Amino acid sequence: MSDLDLFFDPTRCFIGGNWVVPNGQQTLPIENPSTGETVGAIARGTADDIDHAVRAAQAALNGEWGRMPAAERGRLLARIGHMVLERADQLARIEAIDVGKPLKQAKADALALARYLEFYGGACDKIHGETIPYQDGYTVYTLRQPHGVTAHIIPWNYPMQIIGRSVVGALAMGNAAVLKPAEEACLTAIAFAKICDEAGLPKGALNVVPGLGEEAGAALTSHPGVHHISFTGSVGVGQLIQEAAARNVVPVTLELGGKSPQLVFADADLDRALPFLVNAGIQNAGQTCSASSRILVHRSVHDEVLARMAERYRALRVGPALDDLEVGPLVSARQKHIVSSFLDHLDGAKIAARGQLADGIPAGGHYLAPALVSHVVPSNALAQDEIFGPVQVVIPFDDEADAIRIANGTDFGLVAGVWTADGGRQMRLAKAIRSGQVFINNYGAGGGVELPFGGIGKSGHGREKGFEALYGFSVLKTVAAWHG
Ligand code: NAI
Ligand code: MG
Repeated sequence: MSDLDLFFDPTRCFIGGNWVVPNGQQTLPIENPSTGETVGAIARGTADDIDHAVRAAQAALNGEWGRMPAAERGRLLARIGHMVLERADQLARIEAIDVGKPLKQAKADALALARYLEFYGGACDKIHGETIPYQDGYTVYTLRQPHGVTAHIIPWNYPMQIIGRSVVGALAMGNAAVLKPAEEACLTAIAFAKICDEAGLPKGALNVVPGLGEEAGAALTSHPGVHHISFTGSVGVGQLIQEAAARNVVPVTLELGGKSPQLVFADADLDRALPFLVNAGIQNAGQTCSASSRILVHRSVHDEVLARMAERYRALRVGPALDDLEVGPLVSARQKHIVSSFLDHLDGAKIAARGQLADGIPAGGHYLAPALVSHVVPSNALAQDEIFGPVQVVIPFDDEADAIRIANGTDFGLVAGVWTADGGRQMRLAKAIRSGQVFINNYGAGGGVELPFGGIGKSGHGREKGFEALYGFSVLKTVAAWHG
């Protein structure tokens, strides 16, 4: 069942256009979370490999890649996007086995990666500077130039989508990228490098060094040859990375997850809202930075919403990724332990409903039945901390001010959903909620690559996705010419 049908060698790093054995000649195991079995090995890159990769990236900037016209860069990214589309089923299967993600969701990730390549491929030659009226005798204009070498540290939950919004955006602006994927799920990052290689991406424009966070990851973020760092992952590691960036005085984009709420008012269209309320909590088994883990409901409809969500929860089935049920396993035994600990410490909260484990699931898989939790006070850890598993809490509120207070009452601010028919309330809440995105009568808007995304507070800073990301992946230079 878990036969990995790979079109690349995962025990190699991709550095300077070459497939190299990591310096320490070591590997890390690939675990299939659906079975708990080891199904292969990936390269364990070292600080030396990272150093080679950063040098290769710099060489690319000084060579063919650095000279490539924007339109040609765009054509190349579009070609890679086409190749990703052609391989979408294969990539989805690899991702499903590696991450434990149900096949349909993995396929959506592959299609999203293709969309990023199309979108940013088309944008390459459409980002430009301005001329600025100035004193007589001067012509002043701005140039948008790449930072240079960009570092990308990504997590295991959505490797393909995060490569799309981070690495592809950086390449679109002409940077040369070094990618360190997560130890739990590296395969599609290496697959992406293989596709870029086949497409003819100039050597060194993209380098991929799999390895441990504290080893390859820390070497990359502290490397003096890196000019910009983009990180998605935990708050704790984000803080380490911002410190490393501070020492080298380089800009950093941090995307650190959240505790995103959906606010349901009494006049909401519940038939429309219900599937969004639940899906936003259980997609990818809740291991989603923008998961909606808090459902805030006006007291007059609280019991109805809770009952209807509970009914959906009881129908959720959990099983192996390739069986493609609603929910797959968690990525690792460690992640299952983290999530289970929250459910072991309810502190007065109650489990309102759970999903069901499918019959005959492999004993070694990291399965956890989704849990809907009620009677949670907003200060409870379940309502404050990022759980990163299929757990949602339902909390009543009394009025609009109360809803805003609870919504804004965590350290995070990534995404929010507002369900109400009242137009004025929609606008007021969109302004009042502290988060990088607000969705009105929907949640996530289908995750479009066009929509700028990022956090405030402990959810991080900087924006990826959309055109906005391209400003972050470039530097503005002002040129003032005196000509008399
Ligand atoms: P993590 O933050 O440790 O891992 C993310 C990436 O950072 C991986 O590529 C890892 O190798 C790298 N990394 C780790 N230590 C590093 C260091 N010292 N220097 C440079 N890179 C380093 O996240 P982890 O341990 O996988 O998950 C723990 C928790 O973090 C989850 O339970 C969840 O709450 C949160 N998380 C949030 C994500 C999001 O999408 N915002 C994604 C993954 C985890
Ligand atoms: Mg970690």
